[in-house]
Amino acid sequence: MRVSKKTEKLKRIKNEIISLEESPLYAYRTKNNYFPVIGEGNHDADLMLIGEAPGKNEAETGRPFCGRAGKILDELLRNAGIDREDIYITNVIKDRPPKNRDPLPEEIDVYASFLDRQIEIIEPSLIVTLGRFASNYILQKYGFGEKFAISKINGKIYKKEGLNLKIIPVFHPAASIYSPERKKDLVTGFNKISRLLNK
Ligand code: URA
Repeated sequence: MRVSKKTEKLKRIKNEIISLEESPLYAYRTKNNYFPVIGEGNHDADLMLIGEAPGKNEAETGRPFCGRAGKILDELLRNAGIDREDIYITNVIKDRPPKNRDPLPEEIDVYASFLDRQIEIIEPSLIVTLGRFASNYILQKYGFGEKFAISKINGKIYKKEGLNLKIIPVFHPAASIYSPERKKDLVTGFNKISRLLNK
């Protein structure tokens, strides 16, 4: 797909989400003057990072991973030699759930189709899912099974036959805030991601 065509299609998604009154999170967004967080980065990226849902900082700015977890993500990317501007970053859920609670099934129902369309438009060759929630959604979508424990799948490469697509689930960057062990796992995971990208 031509890059400008991609940009046009992604803009359509953005406009649809902005006016998504049927979302269970729409009233919370507007009451708090929050922004939806659609995603940002290179529309022609090889690597797409998928998180869970925006937190407070993200909802206040409309940018994914710009708060505390984002700082950790930036450090992981920098350390692995991956330029944030070369990749595309988004979440499964595009609006902030109250008190950062886990997204509900009806929220996934509303937002997942937008993520599916973003993947179709950007056509990444590598999807990295951050945390249990995004990992389970993506692995199930591509037929690898369901209800994985993130500690069992962290850093594994899932190859989707017939598609030029690999998926690597890793811990959510926020999991490393109080755990040096998780931080080490994440550093190892991102170095692996970087090697794959440079192959
Ligand atoms: N956590 C996420 O999963 N996504 C964000 O955008 C920020 C924090």
